[in-house]
Amino acid sequence: MQYRKLGNSGLEVSVVGLGTNNFGGRIDYEQTVKVLNQTLDEGINFIDTANSYGKGLSEEFIGKALKKKRHDAIIATKVASQVGEGPNQRGASRKHIMDQIDKSLMRLQTDYIDLYQIHFPDPETPIDETLSALDDLVHAGKVRYIGSSNYAAWQLCEAVLTSQNQHLTQFVSEQPEFSMIERKVAKELLPLCDKYNISVIPYFPLYSGLLTGKYQKGKPAPEGTRLSAGPMATRFLRQDYLDLVDQLQNWATQHDHSIGELAISWLLAHRSVGSVIAGATKPEQVIANAKASDWQLTESEKKEVDDILENY
Ligand SMILES: NC(=O)c1ccc[n+]([C@@H]2O[C@H](COP(=O)([O-])OP(=O)(O)OC[C@H]3O[C@@H](n4cnc5c(N)ncnc54)[C@H](OP(=O)(O)O)[C@@H]3O)[C@@H](O)[C@H]2O)c1
Repeated sequence: MQYRKLGNSGLEVSVVGLGTNNFGGRIDYEQTVKVLNQTLDEGINFIDTANSYGKGLSEEFIGKALKKKRHDAIIATKVASQVGEGPNQRGASRKHIMDQIDKSLMRLQTDYIDLYQIHFPDPETPIDETLSALDDLVHAGKVRYIGSSNYAAWQLCEAVLTSQNQHLTQFVSEQPEFSMIERKVAKELLPLCDKYNISVIPYFPLYSGLLTGKYQKGKPAPEGTRLSAGPMATRFLRQDYLDLVDQLQNWATQHDHSIGELAISWLLAHRSVGSVIAGATKPEQVIANAKASDWQLTESEKKEVDDILENY
């Protein structure tokens, strides 16, 4: 496994990480333990969760499973999603952050969170209120580093400048949707993150599994897979995407790799990408995803792939 510094911090995170929004929803505790054990065996230390995943069960399962291995893992969690009824049950206000941090620490059975991320921007709360609440958590030792997620470039820029002007702890990472299929961040967010040395942590890096090649044109989705049913299938399983996947799979095969490895290595070929948090429901998927860490695309390989992407 390879490791990179997380943004402008001294923290080393594995370039392949683990996403855990399947925990407590699509997979139970027993399966979660298998996935987490395999994760640590592969040298993956970066584990991303949120207070809302599996209605809290994702954090709870991670806490229980990693209790005796807490220091082997870098745990990133999030706050700001709707977690209950009522006006203060979501967002990035001081009240909601202070209410939620202790709940996350309790579920995770730990006294510190490595990376505490604001899940979504909260346009109704002044950014200095959010940043000063996070700064207090860092000084209290409950949180070690802070990050954002789903921020537009201007919102992240506003946050960076506010932290600098008010001498508050700065975001070291931003977690946007980013993959070979969804590349909107390339225009403004990536250059911003390069400039301020903020790590990008791409979510949906495998486009919910589409970029592993297991969904094929003209064939039904394999049984039990994430996109075999439900509203996500409509969004992700588009015919034009399946055509692109075909081309990318051919290119990867010619280079003796799988399309899943390509999906991760292509993201890692972007300087600001810190860790690719691929979600997994089985230990075999973790093994396959970890293999991508050994493949560094050359500049000409990256260009060939970019040409394919631009043409669709
Ligand atoms: N910040 C945000 O707003 C936000 C939003 C979404 C996600 N996230 C985070 O980002 C993480 C990653 O996103 P994601 O898990 O939703 O999507 P993803 O990583 O693009 O796809 C994960 C799915 O791909 C399949 N998969 C993974 N490895 C595979 C392999 N080697 N072979 C075959 N199939 C494989 C699994 O599907 P099956 O389930 O079919 O086995 C898995 O559930 C999440 O877990 C979460 O931590 C953050």
